[in-house]
Amino acid sequence: MTLTITRPDDWHLHLRDGSVLADLVPHTSRQFARAIVMPNLTPPVINTEMARSYRQRILAAVPAVDSFEPLMSLYLTNNTPADEIIRAKESGIVHGFKYYPAGATTNSDAGVTDIKNAYPALEAMQKNNMILQVHGEVVDPTVDIFDREARFIEQVLEPLKNDLPELKIVFEHITTKHAAQFVSDADQYVAATITPQHLLYNRNEIFKGGIRPHYYCLPVLKREEHRLELVKAACSGNPKFFLGTDSAPHAQNKKESSCGCAGIFSAPLAIELYARSFDENDARDKLESFASFYGADFYGLPRNTDTITLEKKEWTVPASFPLASEKIIPMHASEKEKWKMKMTSPT
Ligand code: NCD
Ligand code: ZN
Repeated sequence: MTLTITRPDDWHLHLRDGSVLADLVPHTSRQFARAIVMPNLTPPVINTEMARSYRQRILAAVPAVDSFEPLMSLYLTNNTPADEIIRAKESGIVHGFKYYPAGATTNSDAGVTDIKNAYPALEAMQKNNMILQVHGEVVDPTVDIFDREARFIEQVLEPLKNDLPELKIVFEHITTKHAAQFVSDADQYVAATITPQHLLYNRNEIFKGGIRPHYYCLPVLKREEHRLELVKAACSGNPKFFLGTDSAPHAQNKKESSCGCAGIFSAPLAIELYARSFDENDARDKLESFASFYGADFYGLPRNTDTITLEKKEWTVPASFPLASEKIIPMHASEKEKWKMKMTSPT
């Protein structure tokens, strides 16, 4: 069985910087035409000039056979000036601002400590039709880690929506039924990305036969009841839900450590993972719109015109890939995968 779809885009991706770009970019550019590249570098990408030079470094790492467009995102801080939004918009290369609550995840220390601090920037974003990409978890250490997304909706998103009703928001990597419900109920200014790991696995996966750091990401995997609602949302054909892998590469030794960092590296087999989920849920016909149409539509960008073909054919995922002088372990490493990307059509 084969499945040919319009070439997809990844609306949430981490590529890091420096010598690892050459190892990381090709995994994504092989499958996707474009990707929103997250700005949580050290130091974070906080202005248009930094995004411009980061974009050039990414482009330099794209293999000659691929055509790939990095779509830049800027890191929102307590001090993002309103005129940075104008510069970003005018650049044509910046497509959103990422809001990390300070301390919520990897490299988020420079994030926003109180959303009110960012209101001048957010008001300018609403006015200039610039998208806010949200990491939706509260950071209060007394809140249970499994409740942080639901709490964020009540404490931050609902008030934000009241104050800035026409601000376009992407609720990134949603993981709970609460988030799926919030997005479904919201108006056309709100959408969400969903990762392959949150569609395929529940939290048992982290502890199957021992502690498995390569299944640890933030927001952390949740209970089965939540996974089922995410699958329903992704497979529903509702244009508010679209593909964003949150592929977040960390070297093997940073993951397999006494304090392993958060992030799942799915880029080498991203579209195959989504194909498995949609196939298992008898929604093969819904994969294309989720992966290739709705994200572009929400971002106001043209849909891609070339295609990729996937084949239902068992193969074994490599145990690791090179990452500069180290190794990186992909999601589902050494296990059998059911779908394989076969070919691409010329542009
Ligand atoms: C991401 C990373 O490693 O940059 N980690 C993760 O678990 N998803 C950060 C993020 O998107 O939260
Ligand atoms: Zn991310």
